[in-house]
Amino acid sequence: MQFSKRMDRFGDEVFSSLNQRRVELEHQGRSFFDLSIGTPDFETDIAIRQAMAEAAMKPENWKYALRDSDTLLDEVIAYYRARFGVSITRDMICSCYGSQEGIGHIGLVLCDEGDTVLLPSPCYPVFIAGARMAGADPYYYPMAEDNGFLPKLEDIPEDVAERAKYMIVSLPSNPMGSIGTPELYQSLIAFAKRHKIILIHDNAYSDIIYDGIEGGSFLQYEGAAEVGAEFFSLSKSFNLTGARVSFLIGNPELIAAFRKLRSQIDFGMFLPIQQAAIAAMRTERTKVRAQCDEYQARRDALCEGMSAIGWPIPKNKGSMFVWAKLPAAYTSSMDFCLELMDRAGVICTPGASFGPLGEGYVRFALVLPPDRIREACLAVQESGILMG
Ligand SMILES: Cc1ncc(COP(=O)(O)O)c(C=O)c1O
Repeated sequence: MQFSKRMDRFGDEVFSSLNQRRVELEHQGRSFFDLSIGTPDFETDIAIRQAMAEAAMKPENWKYALRDSDTLLDEVIAYYRARFGVSITRDMICSCYGSQEGIGHIGLVLCDEGDTVLLPSPCYPVFIAGARMAGADPYYYPMAEDNGFLPKLEDIPEDVAERAKYMIVSLPSNPMGSIGTPELYQSLIAFAKRHKIILIHDNAYSDIIYDGIEGGSFLQYEGAAEVGAEFFSLSKSFNLTGARVSFLIGNPELIAAFRKLRSQIDFGMFLPIQQAAIAAMRTERTKVRAQCDEYQARRDALCEGMSAIGWPIPKNKGSMFVWAKLPAAYTSSMDFCLELMDRAGVICTPGASFGPLGEGYVRFALVLPPDRIREACLAVQESGILMG
């Protein structure tokens, strides 16, 4: 069959060769410490599940939703006010089926074939896929270790900044776990204004920030809603990954355009899921904070455990991931991941799957309890892989 040339813009699924090897090993009776995929292992709160179940029992909730209900939009408004101290209005909000879907489609709203898009590198892969879907050319701005895995705006060439249509910034970052600062957001907004760039902030980990630092919203900064919007995902804060709920929140003109695009391809979010989202945003803060503490204990177990066995891994500041430089004897992250799975039974993700500057690292997702993570560190030590 002949498929579109567009499909050639997408690489092969990164997990496929790892998965293939994993299946082979499983057939041999092996089991694993799977720290590869960033889907939380925590249970979704009972109140959220109940809200969805009750809504699902009402026959009228099985029709096309067509739009975000006013109750849902008002809940987002209340959440942003209480959580971030930010005032927004209904016309500043549009739901999507997770930030993954929203970011996958945002390029279609913002740019034409051949336009330039500024993306972080390393980055979460859908940033690249979304730009490619729209036929845009990514320009990767480095998030280098020597700059704390943060963007260095002054290094973006003037001509690139001038022609860029939109820029994605995502902090806390996946895979590096770096976090933003007020100064950084202020300079990003000034940069976007100066070069007429639409700024898209992907805020997937506002509730997973460590060492007592409180996460925030891009919209807390003056001028943010003039230059862009942020994706606010419910996936990780509320263990809602499977329900697929996120919102694009910000500039009303941009939201209207995004809504227009979505209305061409969709008839609205399933009403029971809208109810689940409302219940999620009503979760007591203490529960969300306790979960963050648990992630921190996992991060500590991993970074301290690996460092103790001779693989120094600095502690990241946020997100549910740990970003580790390959041990000295290795250069290919894919080869290392395959070997780590074979020899230690530990599965992580090759850095090469996160864009051009990801090679040389691997990413661990903090999806096992601290004790299991400590066992995984022991397995790495016993495998002898760190000796080469
Ligand atoms: C940075 C980042 N953005 C977006 C997503 C996807 O979130 P959602 O579940 O809302 O699609 C993830 C998921 O891991 C992520 O790490």
